[in-house]
Amino acid sequence: MVLDVKTLEKEAKKDLQAVQNLKELDDVFRKYLGRKSELAQILESLSKLKKAERVKMGKTANAFKDTLNQLFDERRKALQTANYKLQTRAEDWLDITLPAKKVSTGHLHPLTLVQRQAEQIFHSMGFGVAQGPEVENDWYNFGALNMPQDHPAREMWDTFWLKPENPKSKIQNPRQHLLLRTHTSPVQVRYMESHNPPVRIIAPGTVYRYEATDARHEFQLIQLEGLLVDKQISVANFKAVIQEFYRRFFQKDVAIRLRPSYFPFTEPSFEVDMSCLMCGGKGCASCGHAGWMEMMGAGMVHPNVLKAVTYDPREWRGFAFGMGLDRLAMMKYKIPDIRMFRLGDLRFLQQF
Ligand code: FA5
Repeated sequence: MVLDVKTLEKEAKKDLQAVQNLKELDDVFRKYLGRKSELAQILESLSKLKKAERVKMGKTANAFKDTLNQLFDERRKALQTANYKLQTRAEDWLDITLPAKKVSTGHLHPLTLVQRQAEQIFHSMGFGVAQGPEVENDWYNFGALNMPQDHPAREMWDTFWLKPENPKSKIQNPRQHLLLRTHTSPVQVRYMESHNPPVRIIAPGTVYRYEATDARHEFQLIQLEGLLVDKQISVANFKAVIQEFYRRFFQKDVAIRLRPSYFPFTEPSFEVDMSCLMCGGKGCASCGHAGWMEMMGAGMVHPNVLKAVTYDPREWRGFAFGMGLDRLAMMKYKIPDIRMFRLGDLRFLQQF
């Protein structure tokens, strides 16, 4: 039995050089080190040899096996490295040490945040929430609020009137004439019509004004109406509720003043101003250099309004108010111009 190590090694090296991939490497491996290889056969037949020859041949065969294994290992590693480089092209390179991309989640609009906070505070004071339509009719927006047709006070609200569905129809009940509600006060009437006193509600919602805009005026805004009807109600109750609301909303005492005013549906009527939180009352562009920001209209519910909903004004009295939530948000977040809320500018909105 002869093992021509030199020739075999030379052949194996040649074969290994020619190998292009791991599959071919396996074939060559089988040829030289597999069960049917020349080497395996020699190792198997060692037992048949005489001791001296067995030892000599065994040594040579095993040493050669080690050499071959080493050659195969080297070639396998070389092929694997080449394979890896082939698969990982530069453009596919993934740098796992880079910081991960921030997942952006949605968030609430500042006006929604303010509305929810206001609702929550009034809720804790025992007020329920009522709602009414944004497309309102003449009766609820004006008539039922003590403003019959041609009442001059209607001029207080520049109105978006809607065209009648059929402009040719002759008999038009003026009371049914549709408009975009100019305030949330019609919800007072709608609510009282369907509920018996006592009443304690707020009615937040969007209203529309056909007017030019400036830092404090928008043509679309959110109002929050409040209505409390009970026995023995006075302006003092209103003041207490409003002061408590502001204290909770701003988490501090804010200076407010009641300024006598006129609304056909309240008597007496007033407006509530707040010392401008933007300039600390000194006067700035946001408050029209007055130092005060008009925050709401309010008053004691007019007996005619109570009568229109069949409440007896000798028995029931109440206060009502309509606050502008956009202006409340301006004060809370110190936003100098009301128009920023509806610009849709993400750089502004993402701050909330
Ligand atoms: C009214 O709308 C009355 N309905 C309020 C009321 C309710 C009085 C109940 C009595 C009883 P006025 O038009 O003043 O009133 O508006 C009320 C508040 O809405 C204002 O004080 C202001 O805070 C806000 N507001 C009014 N017009 C605008 C506007 N164009 N842009 C932003 N906020 C406005």
